Amino acid sequence: MSDSRRANFGSKIGIILASAGSAVGLGNIWRFPCQVGENGGAAFILVYLCCIVLLGIPVMVSEFLIGRRSHANTGSAYEVLSPGTQWKWIGIFGVISSFLILSYYAVVAGWTLEYMIASAAGMFSKNQDFTLFFNNFVSDPVKPVMYMVIFMLLTHFIIVKGVKDGIEKFSKVMMPLLLLIICVLVVCSFSMPGSIEGLRFLLKPDFSKVTSKVILDAMGQAFFSMSIGMGCLCTYASYFTKDANLFKTAGSVALIDTLVAVMAGFIIFPAVFSVPGLSANAGPGLVFVTLPNVFQLAFHSVPWLGYLFSLMFYILLVLAALTSTISLHEVTTAFLHEKFNMSRRKAACCMTAICIFLGTFCALSFGMLGSWKLFGMTIFDLFDFVTAKLFLPLCGMFIAIFTGWYLDKKIVRDEVTNGGRLHIGFYGLFIFLLKFVAPICIGSIFINELLK
Ligand code: PHE
Repeated sequence: MSDSRRANFGSKIGIILASAGSAVGLGNIWRFPCQVGENGGAAFILVYLCCIVLLGIPVMVSEFLIGRRSHANTGSAYEVLSPGTQWKWIGIFGVISSFLILSYYAVVAGWTLEYMIASAAGMFSKNQDFTLFFNNFVSDPVKPVMYMVIFMLLTHFIIVKGVKDGIEKFSKVMMPLLLLIICVLVVCSFSMPGSIEGLRFLLKPDFSKVTSKVILDAMGQAFFSMSIGMGCLCTYASYFTKDANLFKTAGSVALIDTLVAVMAGFIIFPAVFSVPGLSANAGPGLVFVTLPNVFQLAFHSVPWLGYLFSLMFYILLVLAALTSTISLHEVTTAFLHEKFNMSRRKAACCMTAICIFLGTFCALSFGMLGSWKLFGMTIFDLFDFVTAKLFLPLCGMFIAIFTGWYLDKKIVRDEVTNGGRLHIGFYGLFIFLLKFVAPICIGSIFINELLK
């Protein structure tokens, strides 16, 4: 496809909000708190922050510069910059990751939709067994599939509207709304009695908990949460304007993403600790079982407050999930559209169909297909493991090697300084992190954990 026909984001703020929209999602509000709960609180957060600064930001800037320079979707970007080499596999794995992630991500996104509707119907003000409610819902043969399909169709609808009128417009409205809801919820959660225990859990590190598994988990979480290692941000960057400052954009996205994750912790843990007998170590059930208990128990004297809190919380989850699913969808849509010359609508239909097909298996792996296991994991867990723990960090490592060692440094410098117009004081550090720190750290964490 010729460059002149390619879409662009319309403004710098649109670029930041769309990229932050991709990054902020269920990874921050659902996956991060449950990993923090399972891996011992503050110590995990510190390891996570190191991963963001040392590995996440340099890899994110690399994805940005590869996307903007090549002016192509992820699946083709590496071929444009290094024709005839094997580097193209990074892009191809990115496209594969995008539909694998979207297939299971849309399932949890569907749950959030069900929970939003249930909280609007006042379900969480009623006295009932929420573990049973959750288990019955996720193991139902129809409902989770139906909500997953609805979520995919919502995503599809925004994608076919295009880059500027769909993705950018939607992110510009939804991201500020999402940040506002988070702030309100943090204040609500802090004002609950006993919330101080939750804060202590989040702020007091216990380094005896840091094992090599915790480090691998933190690294996988950092890559997943920042949407790096699979080309979402590379694809978005191919729509960036020439004057966008790549470092500033990456810094803003990392900051927003980390703030949202930590604030999600500030919402969830003080609330959970305010109800005696509830555990912070509830894994994936934390926001779907433990929190409904909080809404019901902590607010039984002021039920309308519990109603508002729960409704806002699940609206937050739905919005966060939607800005991420559109970025995942865009990777394959742009690839099919440009590589096979399909219309954007047709490409989007193919992606939606593939994900609904795979997503159905993931949705049913909590019930009917629960006994279908490979390496001891259900289909859902397998998709999560293969993408978040294998593909994203490994592709992240190869992206760092590609930019740090292979790509002509004139191109790298030209992109990060916008043709010499920007002064980047830490350019040397950036290259050092890409050349040595990222490959050595990611490689050794892998060898240590996976070959055990
Ligand atoms: N970053 C998103 C989240 O935190 C998930 C995601 C991963 C989106 C990879 C795009 C690519 O929920």
